[in-house]
Amino acid sequence: MPGQICQWPAWPEYSTGNDTSEDRDFANTKKAIIDEFGRENLQEAWVRVCKDLSSITDEIIEQGNTIIPICSADEILENGFSTDDKQRIKKTGCVVVRGVLPRAQAEELYIEVHQYIARNKDAITAWPEDTPSMYDIYDSPVQNTIRSHPRHLQLQKLLNGLWQDNSGETSSDPLIYYDGVRDRPPKQVFLGLGPHIDAGSLSRWAAPTYRKVYESIFSGHPENHDAWNLEVRKDAVQDLFKAPSHSSVFRAFQGWTALTPSRAREGSILLYPNVATTIGYMLLRPFFTPPKDEEDIMDASKWIFDESGCRFPGTEKDQSQFLSRSSHPHLRLEGCMMHVPEIQPGDTVWWHSDLCHAVDPEHEGVHNASVAFIAAVPTTPLTKTYIKQQLADTLAGRQPSDTQGTVNETLLKGYRGHEGFSEDARRAFGYYL
Ligand SMILES: [Fe+2]
Repeated sequence: MPGQICQWPAWPEYSTGNDTSEDRDFANTKKAIIDEFGRENLQEAWVRVCKDLSSITDEIIEQGNTIIPICSADEILENGFSTDDKQRIKKTGCVVVRGVLPRAQAEELYIEVHQYIARNKDAITAWPEDTPSMYDIYDSPVQNTIRSHPRHLQLQKLLNGLWQDNSGETSSDPLIYYDGVRDRPPKQVFLGLGPHIDAGSLSRWAAPTYRKVYESIFSGHPENHDAWNLEVRKDAVQDLFKAPSHSSVFRAFQGWTALTPSRAREGSILLYPNVATTIGYMLLRPFFTPPKDEEDIMDASKWIFDESGCRFPGTEKDQSQFLSRSSHPHLRLEGCMMHVPEIQPGDTVWWHSDLCHAVDPEHEGVHNASVAFIAAVPTTPLTKTYIKQQLADTLAGRQPSDTQGTVNETLLKGYRGHEGFSEDARRAFGYYL
């Protein structure tokens, strides 16, 4: 099927889970959830999500990456998402939007950012250390040109609008969250970001405001979980355990804007095109241990409720939430992690904040694979607070607090700040908060 992985990469397995017995935060969290929701509800939910995953994964495997919705920016910026688009995006939790920037402009921006990085090589940092390709720059002219582009801002607003909130405290008006740039050379292997979910790890269970998002799952009714409810989600504390890998800001969608072409096995991205059931499964997984007999693994009723242990497979406080084939077998990751279709400069890829994704471990192409990480962030009380501080930091030459960076970007060669911004762009960058 198109987009499927031919040979599973050497990503880590989390079959037994990390031993967290010395860390009371794990055991206390587990106990709090069992006390609040009860063993029976958790067992009921577990059997249901595993059953649902059976047909969901069949469908994904059958369709391959054709299941990932693709929209034309020209079309949706004119007419909005169609009813069919909305249904497909809400089901899969992801969308490719083509042609947000004209291809020629995106190609020029790539040359510009590549040169900017080269000119400032001694001043800026990048990771991983041995094969740097993720650059810790946040306020460069190219990033700001893309973020402030009227078409990009309009798209962010449409994406934010896929979430619902009746509280009156939020709006889909986009705010700009500073993130980095990748410029990955060919042949560079990268196994550091296998299947994972961002926006916190243990926080999803441990922070009462975050746990509330998943209340219907823990209550035994995972089918009622609304993955697009901003009313509860807006208050969730994602970074209860602060670490560079946790964003403190809610992103309706994480996203990348392509500056170069990218194909499967050429520095692309892989998505798991289901959101609501997958997150339910991930959240219930620590409450169960697998049956001893390997043949019973896919039979959810044979998994044993684990009240006493505190192993959370793939969960570490300072890391994103990781998943693997052996620890999360019902996800059938091998067949369901999909390379996105071929992407051209100016195209964008977006995925829900609870969506499992992975960085392409390979880059067998002949050109650098480069993207700017630009998310869709709605206006909420929490996002406003962060973006306001981010602007103050940026103007003072400090890198934003989530990045934990220490470079004064205003001193970089070619720095241009926010000159020439439209009113809409200034609003999105926090000037009127
Ligand atoms: Fe990620």
